[in-house]
Amino acid sequence: MNKQITDTLNRVHNALMPKTADLTFLLSLKTKEEQQILFRFADQVRQKHCGKGILLRGIIEFSNRCANPCPYCGLSFHNHSLSRYQLSKNEILDTVDRLHHQKIRTVILQSGEDPQMDPDWLADVIRSIRARFEMAITLSVGEKSLETYRCWKKAGADRYLLKIETASRSIYDSLHPGMNFSKRILCLKNLTKLGYQVGCGNMIGLIGQTTATIARDIQFFKKMDFDMIAIGPFIPHSKTPHGQEKPGDPELVLRTLALTRIVTKNSHLPSTTALASFGNDLKNQGFLAGANVLMLNFTPPSVLKDYDIYPGRKYTYLDENDSSSSLHAWADSLNRIIDYSIGNSLKSATTQTVNQQYI
Ligand code: 5AD
Repeated sequence: MNKQITDTLNRVHNALMPKTADLTFLLSLKTKEEQQILFRFADQVRQKHCGKGILLRGIIEFSNRCANPCPYCGLSFHNHSLSRYQLSKNEILDTVDRLHHQKIRTVILQSGEDPQMDPDWLADVIRSIRARFEMAITLSVGEKSLETYRCWKKAGADRYLLKIETASRSIYDSLHPGMNFSKRILCLKNLTKLGYQVGCGNMIGLIGQTTATIARDIQFFKKMDFDMIAIGPFIPHSKTPHGQEKPGDPELVLRTLALTRIVTKNSHLPSTTALASFGNDLKNQGFLAGANVLMLNFTPPSVLKDYDIYPGRKYTYLDENDSSSSLHAWADSLNRIIDYSIGNSLKSATTQTVNQQYI
């Protein structure tokens, strides 16, 4: 069995496009020992292509307003009991200042998908961050028009996160009434065309998902050559239509993460907050199975509980006083180091252009 695992891993690693059967075989590994073979392989690929560093990203969840119907998400319009907020420009800038002070050089501005949000307002926020701080700006605010994406890019945004959630068109469309898989793909293409570093990702544990559809997610990540990919478990939220469903299997998340590392080689992969919500041990295992990015939460405490995507969110914080020493000790315990650099994409422009042909 171990030989079969190693042979399959080598095939998946060396293939231009890994075979579905090889991926499903590895996604189905069950015992600790078998999974360790996969995780160690992914760890070596991470070491070779990304090095020892753990990159830091500071996230500010600046608004929880959302008009989308996603039946798994606590921010969707199904959740009428949620009190909605949007931070002001000054609140955002103060928070960026805090994060910059902690030596973090990437800010992620995230919100629900709010058609009422004025694109010019966000462009102004982006310009103000640009004028004051030297750092990368990542946006994660959903599907918008090409013009809006262009306006934010011109204002100074560098990166954009838009998860596909699942690369299966039928599962995607059944989970997102009124939304559309093709539109999602078009947004991802537009972002790439405009020169954003693009992040994507999926959720593990969606209704209708199988190891074969997860294999296709991984093939999709490879084909699109994303700069960043976030993989997290579904966690049921009682105020949503999927509140009674089973949570995603965190070990399957780890196997998906490990395979995504082996297949995509140098994409930036976080050990996600959703995975950490199953316990610190799982967060650490993510870093031993291919992850190289840590998200730190800087959403102001006054609104944090209202960014209620799923229950029991386990954020990693830095507090003003102690902060970095405990972070360094933690990284050291994993035989890693904290990397304070800006953490741009490791994909070369040439690979990205070549891969556009497949889109
Ligand atoms: N459990 C885990 N992750 C979720 N997300 C939304 N709802 C849930 C949930 N119940 C993730 C999705 C989405 C991001 C905003 O949060 O991947 O893209």
